[in-house]
Amino acid sequence: MHAIGSADSQGVMTMTDDLNDEAIVSAWQENAAPWIHAVRSGAIASRKLVTNDAIVSAIRRLQPTSVLDIGCGEGWLARELASFDVRVHGFDVVPELVAAAQAAGGGRFEVMSYETFAAGASMPAIDLAICNFSLLGDAATRGVIRRTAALLPAHGTLLIQTLHPLFASAEPIRAESWQPGSWAGCDSAFGRAAPWYSRSLEGWLALLADEGFQLRAMHEPMHPQTGVPCSVIFEAGLLLR
Ligand SMILES: C[S@@+](CC[C@H](N)C(=O)[O-])C[C@H]1O[C@@H](n2cnc3c(N)ncnc32)[C@H](O)[C@@H]1O
Repeated sequence: MHAIGSADSQGVMTMTDDLNDEAIVSAWQENAAPWIHAVRSGAIASRKLVTNDAIVSAIRRLQPTSVLDIGCGEGWLARELASFDVRVHGFDVVPELVAAAQAAGGGRFEVMSYETFAAGASMPAIDLAICNFSLLGDAATRGVIRRTAALLPAHGTLLIQTLHPLFASAEPIRAESWQPGSWAGCDSAFGRAAPWYSRSLEGWLALLADEGFQLRAMHEPMHPQTGVPCSVIFEAGLLLR
């Protein structure tokens, strides 16, 4: 990836952040159709085998009544939770994904960007917010976490499932840096992949703490054959205010 700007020590959004966050959104817009097909046909092995069940189990342990699915994609999680009597409100920036979610049902869905959400758009009352592989950027991720802290009640929970910082790639990855995207594990129908911002475990915990959360639990869903974590799930509650 070309260096087109640099992180600044004041945490001000830079040109790199801006352009990468835009590239994330346009990549998802371009790849909505193959993504819907891949999710619904169970074509992504790690999801089918490990990470879907892992996030559903983490949600069920918390016994929520009302959930916000942030970056909901085509809405599989709402459909999964519908049978457990959990109300789901999902939002995503890609209209084609939201239309697919609405058509399949299981929850209420709307088209909204993280930036609009972070700026304080009106949301239903919730007791659990979920980001399932949907926090890909830098400044956009911070904005989502900050707004979620303001939205949740004192007993509320934020669940984030994401790439495990230590096992995201066969090669070591530089933490706190933008990485080129890849559709590894998916078929050739996909086009340009979204860049993503890599964080260390410490980086994730620091980000959560900065934005008002404390870690309650961390899960590392493992591949049953290899014993290697397929992801990490952060379960965070609000710091006392
Ligand atoms: C890997 S997909 C995960 C989708 C869904 N959570 C799932 O588990 O299938 C990442 C999702 O994040 C959404 N997304 C990325 N950047 C976004 C933004 N700035 N605002 C809203 N949604 C965004 C994408 O459109 C995409 O649906």
